[in-house]
Amino acid sequence: MTGLRSDRWFGGDDEVAVLHRVALPARGTGGGPVIRIADTTSDLNPCNAPLSGLIEAVARGIRAAGGVPVRFPVMSLGEDLMKPTAMLYRNLAAMQIEEQARSNPLDGLVLTAGCDKTVAAALLGAASADLPALLLLSGPRAAPTWRGRPLGTGTDLWRALEERRAGQLDDEAWHELEACLTCAGPGTCTTMGTASTLALLTEVLGLCLPGTTGVAGASPAAVDLAERTGARVVELVAAGTRPSDVVTQAALDNALLALAAVGGSTNAVIHLAALAGRLGLDASLAHADALWRDVPLLADVEPCGRHLTAALPAAGGVPTLLAGLAGLPGPAGLPGPGGHLDLTARAGDGQPWALHVSLAPEPTPDGVLRAGDHPVAPAPTMVALTGSLAPDGCVLKVAAASPDLLRHTGPALVLDDYDDMRRRLDDPELVVDDDVVLVVRGIGPVGAPGMPEWGMAPIPAPLVRRGVRDVVRISDGRMSGTSFGTVALHVAPEAEAGGPLALVRNGDLIRLDVPARVLDLLVEPAELAARAATWQPAPVADLRGWPLLYRQHVGQAPAGADLDFLTAPRPEHRVRVEPTVGRS
Ligand code: FES
Repeated sequence: MTGLRSDRWFGGDDEVAVLHRVALPARGTGGGPVIRIADTTSDLNPCNAPLSGLIEAVARGIRAAGGVPVRFPVMSLGEDLMKPTAMLYRNLAAMQIEEQARSNPLDGLVLTAGCDKTVAAALLGAASADLPALLLLSGPRAAPTWRGRPLGTGTDLWRALEERRAGQLDDEAWHELEACLTCAGPGTCTTMGTASTLALLTEVLGLCLPGTTGVAGASPAAVDLAERTGARVVELVAAGTRPSDVVTQAALDNALLALAAVGGSTNAVIHLAALAGRLGLDASLAHADALWRDVPLLADVEPCGRHLTAALPAAGGVPTLLAGLAGLPGPAGLPGPGGHLDLTARAGDGQPWALHVSLAPEPTPDGVLRAGDHPVAPAPTMVALTGSLAPDGCVLKVAAASPDLLRHTGPALVLDDYDDMRRRLDDPELVVDDDVVLVVRGIGPVGAPGMPEWGMAPIPAPLVRRGVRDVVRISDGRMSGTSFGTVALHVAPEAEAGGPLALVRNGDLIRLDVPARVLDLLVEPAELAARAATWQPAPVADLRGWPLLYRQHVGQAPAGADLDFLTAPRPEHRVRVEPTVGRS
């Protein structure tokens, strides 16, 4: 293969080239393209553990295709153990991928990923490095039986927690649930949480091989995918196909449509916005909401449906999902969402999605994947709202919300601090109305910092005892993709940035109107102006290192919570700076 980027390191006859060839003899003068296998495994990240067993298969695929595999680590972002949230480090890991690509003699990348922030970081890192690249996903963990059905990690834990708080789940059952969760072993969450959503969207975007979604990392199918991923990246290098060629506006729109059709994680809205920001594309909330308007729920997968993501491959996977989307009708005389789907966009194997769709099993009326005439739930499944409480927008997953709360006005109960929130909401003496609107603020990108998943606040204990299972919650933070409830998230500007959310007081009336896409604070403008005049941001925590840099440069959620120096507002801003290759 000629014209490789790594030739700048290994070509020539001077002392520098000699040093480089000695350092990586497998490449030397005659070796093929150098493909980096980015290893995100860690003992602190069980979601990515299956990838350890796949890395040699990737290397085999690279060698068989004439490439030179090189393995080196990327920081591993495990959602369960990193505090305050792995999201704080998404941009750091993406930057690490970009800088490692820039500074080393690499021609292509295989990015291993599993837990959701590792997938998001890999997508952003791939976009910014813009070397030929594919992701290899770790796949869902096993689903042991709990209470007579397969355990949905995350979702079943949240449900059990509410039952426990209501006094309907005893200690024995609680400990039995923990044992079940433990024996599920390594792999990603089994419901359509953020990891599964991002895996599916990665496949739609063409940044992993088709057929990836739902395949368990410990299976023979995963080994086959790993080998083919390695070989495919060598092909991408030969063809000069970069992520910026693959992730077009059409591919991004396909991903936004697929996100709504599976009732996917709200977190994916932020990650797609960040990806768009790096590539100069549009994933704004207004653009997304226009695409989502007529998309019903086509995947019967938890937390919005009944099945687990492991059921997706047998149901036809992404091609069958896209077939269902393509067939959606629009309002009379207008193109439906299917009209916005672009099946000329390419899958990760280079074939147009139209080919995979034509070979896919049809969606079935009561199947895991449905056609538009038999949806699991009606459109929309996801909306973007604006209003006086969220001038720059917020997101609400309708498919996971209570239909009777989609038009709701109620008094605010304001929660400013995580420990205070847990203490007050668990207080059986808390005075709270059934129509309360919980406001959880100060947990946006700047506020926490890092935007933790505290937005789905627990239902206040007195309400749980009165049988209430959902209330409207509003937050500048996020919630887990495995969560559910009527929760307006990612409110922008966030409270810490002086958004109207900061001005809400207990008892203020808040109006949520999902059909009208409105979230309003029903307080007179003069009163709000008076509050704004005396508002002071919370004292800044004593930050240093990465959290300090992050806080100084992070943007708001609708723009992807990316760092200002990593985005590319326009395509011409995407200048890849190559290092001088001389003596180190
Ligand atoms: Fe890692 Fe869910 S916590 S995938």
